[in-house]
Amino acid sequence: MSALAAPDLSHEQRLREEERARIARDLHDDLGAQLTGIGMALGLLREQLAREQHAALPQADYAQQLLDQAREGMERLIDDLHPPVVEFGLADALRWQCRHFSRQTALECHVQCPDTPSVQEPFVVVSLLRILREALANVARHAQAGKVEVSLAVGEELILEVADDGIGLPPQDAGLDQQRRSEGHGLANMRMRAAALGGSLMLEARPGGGSLLSVHLPVAH
Ligand SMILES: Nc1ncnc2c1ncn2[C@@H]1O[C@H](COP(=O)(O)OP(=O)(O)OP(=O)(O)O)[C@@H](O)[C@H]1O
Ligand SMILES: [Mg+2]
Repeated sequence: MSALAAPDLSHEQRLREEERARIARDLHDDLGAQLTGIGMALGLLREQLAREQHAALPQADYAQQLLDQAREGMERLIDDLHPPVVEFGLADALRWQCRHFSRQTALECHVQCPDTPSVQEPFVVVSLLRILREALANVARHAQAGKVEVSLAVGEELILEVADDGIGLPPQDAGLDQQRRSEGHGLANMRMRAAALGGSLMLEARPGGGSLLSVHLPVAH
């Protein structure tokens, strides 16, 4: 297994990630179990009200809708705190994210992680997963692409690349260097996540068309 030698991957960052994972687990196990119990009780109540054609049935149905919304909210919160897929390690988490993206957008998304050593450090996996999510969201929103290629390689350094075959970067930005390119929150956040791991991030136009986003992180063996 390969460990990342990110200089800023401090004890504090590790602790914070562990704490977020613990809160996510507690939310799932405590609140999640309680919501399941309420859902079962409510289901029985609605069945009974329906059998009796009771006037209170619409209120019970409304309570069920509120419960479903509360569960969705809890799941979003858990995912925000610590995406469950992080536990699979980096390569599988990236593959999962790409499958999810393909299903959501109907865009082709291929992943290549040939012989990649396993990276399990939760802070690293979460950071790269969030970078990939934003990169894919940008492809879906801006690129008009037909296909996305995601690749991960871990050698002297870790390199994550997201290449699309879309329209490329806006013309007014094409000649600017990375720091002067007009950016929304997405690129700034991605760059900050890479920097927090001692690495860097670039977004550039591909010579054959489309864009290439690449993340380079230091690795210790
Ligand atoms: N894959 C891509 N193809 C084409 N243009 C892109 C791509 N990725 C980013 N861009 C361009 O870079 C700009 C900055 O991206 P960034 O993610 O920072 O902001 P945004 O997506 O516009 O807004 P948000 O703050 O919601 O992420 C985009 O507005 C878009 O013009
Ligand atoms: Mg964006």
